[in-house]
Amino acid sequence: MNGWLSKFRRKYFFGEEVIKKNKQILTNMGTRVLVITGASSKRNGALNDVLEALHGKEVVVFNRIKENPDLSLVESVRQEFQNYNPDFILAIGGGSAMDCAKAIAVLLENQSLVVSDLFNPLRYSKAKPVVCVSTTSGSGSKVTPYSVLVVDGRKKGFAHEAVVPKVAFIDYRYSLTLDHDVTLSTGLDALSHAVESFLSLKSDPLTEQISLQALKLAKENLPRVLQSPNELEFRKNMAVASVMAGMVISHTGTTISHAMGNPLTTEKGLKHGVAASLSLPFCLELYESSKTETIKRIFGGDLLSYLKALGVRLNFTPTEVEIERWAEEMGKDFHLKNTPGRFDKEKIAEAYRKLFEHFTV
Ligand SMILES: [Fe+2]
Repeated sequence: MNGWLSKFRRKYFFGEEVIKKNKQILTNMGTRVLVITGASSKRNGALNDVLEALHGKEVVVFNRIKENPDLSLVESVRQEFQNYNPDFILAIGGGSAMDCAKAIAVLLENQSLVVSDLFNPLRYSKAKPVVCVSTTSGSGSKVTPYSVLVVDGRKKGFAHEAVVPKVAFIDYRYSLTLDHDVTLSTGLDALSHAVESFLSLKSDPLTEQISLQALKLAKENLPRVLQSPNELEFRKNMAVASVMAGMVISHTGTTISHAMGNPLTTEKGLKHGVAASLSLPFCLELYESSKTETIKRIFGGDLLSYLKALGVRLNFTPTEVEIERWAEEMGKDFHLKNTPGRFDKEKIAEAYRKLFEHFTV
């Protein structure tokens, strides 16, 4: 568990009104702040809470973060704030805002880097401190060293100790305004992180227990929160699940089923969490691990029906050429290092075909 303790030395605040109650933490971090966010933080109240807590400080806000940020967006934010020297960067939002903020934190601290250097973590050792105010319950980015960006039409991630958020505020009330599709997708992201961290070759007995707890919470509460989106208790439980799953994937990574969703997001526009969970029922049959039985038991033996009951559907069928191309790419993907069992191009193509057979309507 290298690094486990060092990660917990960072501060996470979880609960209602945590920004207001702990605003001293923010004000002690410096006087110049760059806020990175999208449009929704105005609607859910998070931006207002942050601005109130930072009253009297020098704050600039970039509020044009979109889903699946690409390198050109990162580059344009960097250009815009090249000469602004913030003491810290504060992300408000879900994975997109937080991942973008992490990239900006590296680039503003290391002015000589070009954006593509982000993916070569040996080229830098420091970043501006990152603070996260989480408004969704999915990626867990508020507690991870990961940033995933779109590069040349593909999702590409980097991991660096320097971008693990120094402080994260998780007030699940902000997730009350999430619509059905975002609630479903982010919830599926957290759920699949929990499953995959449990099965990962990098798991250990401690991460396994946390993964299982996160999985049980996500599995029980995702259908409930979709049914009753205004029920704070369900929103809270999904937030707990996403933080726990984020903590464990920081150690274990995710597996090939997660990566298989990437082309479905970048080429077909599917939301990350939905795309990442689609192949899971079929990969469960292919993973070579006795631990798959534990996962199957949790879903009463039928993860496929669980996902279908949540309303997971696809409205397209890819061509055989597309499936072959994606399978070829996935057959070399780095997630295979964490994946139990031998996954070659044929096995992956088979999982893709089954997925479309069962989910496309
Ligand atoms: Fe994910």
